[in-house]
Formats: sequence, C-alpha cells, structure tokens
Amino acid sequence: MINRRLDVAQILRDEVALLKVVADQRSVEMDLKIDKKVPLITADSEKIRQVMLNMIDNAIYYSNPHKKVIISLKNSNGAIEFTVKDSGIGVPKSEQANLFGKFFRGTNARKKRPDGTGVGLFLARKVILSHDGEMIFESEEGKGSTFGFKLPVR
Ligand SMILES: Nc1ncnc2c1ncn2[C@@H]1O[C@H](COP(=O)(O)OP(=O)(O)O)[C@@H](O)[C@H]1O
Ligand SMILES: [Mg+2]
Repeated sequence: MINRRLDVAQILRDEVALLKVVADQRSVEMDLKIDKKVPLITADSEKIRQVMLNMIDNAIYYSNPHKKVIISLKNSNGAIEFTVKDSGIGVPKSEQANLFGKFFRGTNARKKRPDGTGVGLFLARKVILSHDGEMIFESEEGKGSTFGFKLPVR
C-alpha cells in the first residue's frame, strides 16, 4: 500500500467530472459541496478514489431520474468527512445488517440494476477501516440513502 499526502478534494473533483457522463445518461444531477479548507491526509490515493467512485456510482444507479445526488466533503475537527446522499430506492431495514458483507446485493437493487457485483461496499469498508476511519450509513427504503466515511487527518 502506497501512502502519500492526498488532496482528497482534488481527487473528488476529478472523479465527479468523470462520472458526469453516467449521471447525465441517467438524468441524475450531482451537486458537489466541498469545504474551503479540507486538510491533506495520509492515505492510499487509488483506494480512496475507488471508495468515493463506488459510493457515487451507487447513488447514481440506485437513485431515481431527475433527483439530486448531493456529494459533500467536510472538514470535521481532526477528520475529513465524505458523504453521498441520494433520494433513491434505499436499503430495506431487514437487509441493512448484511450491507457490508461480500457479494451482498439488496433485493430492490437487483431489480434496479441486474448486473451488479456486490463487492464495492465490502471493499470500501475494508479500505476505510484499514485507514483507521469509520463508515457512514443511513437509509430508509423508498426514500434514499447516505453513504460515506470519516478519515483521520494526519
Ligand atoms: N445508494 C444506494 N442506495 C440503495 N442501495 C444501495 C446504495 N448503495 C449500495 N446499496 C446497496 O448495497 C448493495 C451493495 O453495493 P455494492 O457493493 O456497491 O454492490 P452493487 O452496486 O454491485 O450491488 C447494493 O446491491 C444495494 O443493495
Ligand atoms: Mg456498486
């Protein structure tokens, strides 16, 4: 694992620019909010990029057309906090405990996107925990979800 000083804000801007094509195809609007001063962190850039990509990609696919996906990066005393909020299908309550398991796919997600793999969140959690961070998750079926992480600044 290569640890470098990362400008997560810049990585995020690049990733959102790349995902704009996908969002446009699905008529989903991305709203990006980045705090003015987001500190650099020591982390593996490719892994952190992948985690953010997966979470935004999920929000786009499991959202509904013409709904906004709100992506934010905040400076949260001693940590940086990344979140992606959508107004999509959500995760059924009875399935939430299995969410970060390998190959887990929600029953509603399978209908919406038959070709998923169910490894994105499993890997995301591993990456965030290996960086001493924590996962953020909140969802209500049929209303939407918020996925994200906190990573310590150091
Ligand atoms: N934004 C979201 N809205 C609703 N469900 C989600 C969202 N993100 C992830 N999920 C749920 O978590 C499961 C696992 O996600 P992931 O690991 O990215 O695999 P995949 O997207 O290939 O199914 C999805 O199948 C879905 O049930
Ligand atoms: Mg996915």
